[in-house]
Amino acid sequence: MLEVRALRAGYGAIEVLRGVDLSVGAGEIVALLGSNGAGKSTLNNNISGLYRPFDGTIRFDGREIQGLGGEAMRKVRGRRIGTIFQDPLTSLNPLFTVGRQISETIAVQLEVSHAEADRRAVEWLARVGLPDPGRRFDSYPHEFSGGMRQRVVVALALCAEPDLVIADEPTTALDVSVQAQIIELLRELARERNTALLLITHDMGVIAEITDRVAVLYVGRIVEIGRTADILQRPSHPYTVGLMHSIPRLGAQAARLRQMEGAMPRLSAAPWRHCAFSPRCPATIERCRASPPPLVPAGKTEAACFRAGEVGAAATAGGTREGEAQPAATAAPARSPHLVVDDLTCHFDVSPAV
Ligand SMILES: Nc1ncnc2c1ncn2[C@@H]1O[C@H](COP(=O)(O)OP(=O)(O)O)[C@@H](O)[C@H]1O
Ligand code: SF4
Ligand SMILES: [Mg+2]
Repeated sequence: MLEVRALRAGYGAIEVLRGVDLSVGAGEIVALLGSNGAGKSTLNNNISGLYRPFDGTIRFDGREIQGLGGEAMRKVRGRRIGTIFQDPLTSLNPLFTVGRQISETIAVQLEVSHAEADRRAVEWLARVGLPDPGRRFDSYPHEFSGGMRQRVVVALALCAEPDLVIADEPTTALDVSVQAQIIELLRELARERNTALLLITHDMGVIAEITDRVAVLYVGRIVEIGRTADILQRPSHPYTVGLMHSIPRLGAQAARLRQMEGAMPRLSAAPWRHCAFSPRCPATIERCRASPPPLVPAGKTEAACFRAGEVGAAATAGGTREGEAQPAATAAPARSPHLVVDDLTCHFDVSPAV
């Protein structure tokens, strides 16, 4: 459904995406994972047509869309591609009620009567967990809290029943029960309507539960991609290994999280002549500083690392010895915890009347 090839994109002279290849099939859920500033939203902005890429192709349902503008792009966006932007205010018009915005989208895109569109709009407000949807239909975006606005944005992106949904951290601003509801809704769409879903998220629980594949982005390049279980359990790129050790996971054995050393390099207009992860990578060898590694099969995934095989084997074996390729994270030094709660009891006074 979506096929991105050799995509280069950014802002002015700054190149953020440096040759991204990624595809999402109908009914498939692909997670895009990476630290802040890696370029995830930039990829979303370019697929959605908010920005034009510098180079490369974006195919949607077999057709190149990266050069489309005006009416042609509007027909694809909204109807066939639904986008949940990271900033909810990007999607909502402050001058119209939320119900009207959803209803208009449905009426125009699905060519149904206004009465039918209004009915479906209320239904969508209910599906995204908005309390009292009938009454909320007539509210303006500024009358909502951030979390409620985010739910409206989700309804707006999904209401025209698109074939591809790109969801950029769609549940970050929501409380846990609503998060679960939205994620379940996205999963239902992929299953029942064969919708392709590109999900940008840091939530490892969500990734493990609903995604088929995971793509890991680092400084504008996919550094590892593979089936979800393989990425989570047998990562081959040192950055992915580091990520897996630095993100808390539900159900994982209690262990201290490890912090990844160093920071992402600053973006610049110049092309990389080395592996972008080399300044932070404890497995670096001379070759890593001479040229950027290509994305090639490594173990069960594809990884852009000259030492992926060794790193993957060490990570799978559950540890590394000195001198071996090691994951990028470093074990947290043993130190006294910040807070210790020991043998705590808690009493509430109960009045004689109770
Ligand atoms: N509109 C913009 N103009 C200039 N630079 C931008 C703009 N949006 C994002 N950037 C820069 O592009 C880089 C990637 O940002 P972004 O795609 O938002 O990352 P992510 O979504 O992975 O956190 C960051 O360095 C960010 O500062
Ligand atoms: S081993 Fe080399 S190529 Fe692989 S991530 Fe580290 S620096 Fe990059
Ligand atoms: Mg972002």
